[in-house]
Amino acid sequence: MAIYKQATETTFVLIKPDGVRRGLVGEVLARFERRGFVVRRASCVQMTSGDVAEHYPHLAAEPFFPEIVGFMTSGPVVALVLEAPNAVAAARQIVGATDPMKAEPGSIRADLATSVRFNVVHAADSESTARREIAHFFPGARDEENDVSDERS
Ligand code: TYD
Repeated sequence: MAIYKQATETTFVLIKPDGVRRGLVGEVLARFERRGFVVRRASCVQMTSGDVAEHYPHLAAEPFFPEIVGFMTSGPVVALVLEAPNAVAAARQIVGATDPMKAEPGSIRADLATSVRFNVVHAADSESTARREIAHFFPGARDEENDVSDERS
């Protein structure tokens, strides 16, 4: 029987303050691990408003941005570097659409989110965004640790 090796990729995932507050850290991590993701880095941190502005530059001009800042700074978050084949796209699939009413049943947001804002988890939307977010939350990490080039079966 042939054994195929699949190249892995890393992505950035963040469990938002509602997820931490509601005790959903284990539930969220389990969903990624069951799908084959490996936790490479994990850190529980309190975001500042500056962190939120850097994390969501595309939303800075939105009228609801102050509310996002208020929410994202309302308690600790868990920042994660996760590794899997097609990690960026697979994580977005596991997380589901921004609005839980539009998210696929079985996704984290469809199953666990209580509103568009309080949607439990963030996942990077591209490889370049993942690199930027990993560098922001894990500034000590070397590039080669963040950008996985090895293969595992
Ligand atoms: P966005 O980057 O558009 O979505 P996603 O998290 O799915 O990549 O938005 C970032 C976060 O901003 C989103 O998860 C929740 C919040 N948000 C609101 O509170 N209201 C809104 O109308 C939108 C579009 C986003």
